[in-house]
Amino acid sequence: MIPRVRGIRSVEIDVASVKAASDFYRNVWKLTEVASPGATCFRGTAAYHHIIGLHPPGAEGPAIRSVVFDVADAAQLHALHAKVKAAIPNVEAPHALGGAAGGFGFGFKDSEARNFILLTEARDHGGASTPVADHPHKVTHINLNAADYARTADFLVEILGFRLIDESGRARFLHADCPDHFSVAVVNARNATLNHIAFDMLDIDSVMRGAGRMIDNGYPIEWGVGRHGPGNNVFAYFAGPEELPLEYTTEVLQIDDSYVPRGPDHWKFPPGRSDQWGITQPQTKRLARIQELFRFTADGHRT
Ligand SMILES: [Fe+2]
Repeated sequence: MIPRVRGIRSVEIDVASVKAASDFYRNVWKLTEVASPGATCFRGTAAYHHIIGLHPPGAEGPAIRSVVFDVADAAQLHALHAKVKAAIPNVEAPHALGGAAGGFGFGFKDSEARNFILLTEARDHGGASTPVADHPHKVTHINLNAADYARTADFLVEILGFRLIDESGRARFLHADCPDHFSVAVVNARNATLNHIAFDMLDIDSVMRGAGRMIDNGYPIEWGVGRHGPGNNVFAYFAGPEELPLEYTTEVLQIDDSYVPRGPDHWKFPPGRSDQWGITQPQTKRLARIQELFRFTADGHRT
């Protein structure tokens, strides 16, 4: 059995103003704060302890501290650790983590110095984890820019067990061990920056009302509302606090092993269109700019 990660637990972010970002994620983005030592954490309606962790900035200023991937159990974690250790120097040994979510895991830097943490047995929430209208359920995917996107995608496939599920002209969509079409997309770009973080909403109404709420609070839509090709998900993109690129999304295609991947020749829109419906304007210049704004911190791989 090939060990595989199950998707994204959380994204840990260094922000210039934890207070202002917290107000946003609580009141506008509609996450719920979880009392946590050492970070300001927000959960969605899924069971994960938190899906966004906010931290005061280090010397680099606002940046991505780490992407935390979910692993099913300790046996899979140890198997993944053996594969990572064989591929990458300076990988921590698996250990009990002292972060807000606790658990057992390890961190490392990938070939382009992104900070990844693999985690299992975290301190998750009991009770129902049913999606609720207007509230994000979880981080359903993260898009990562890469200077060498083939190498980055190959690592995620060969070492972390993702399946290459579709490929467009600019991105490789990677499927984790969960029904979501993709959990990571690796985007062909100039450097290893964050492209965007996508939050799963209950339905299209929740995306539309969320977009209205964002507009009411001074965050215009930067791209959308539209429906993507690969993944078939409905999208609306925004510049969040400190211009972090955020997406509300819904109806991400649910797939199993019978899904047949397709390539760039299939995933093309006619000239002038950037989604299936043909309603959205092209993405704004601002979105293009902020999609290369956030790098990874120097030390976020140390847990
Ligand atoms: Fe997305």
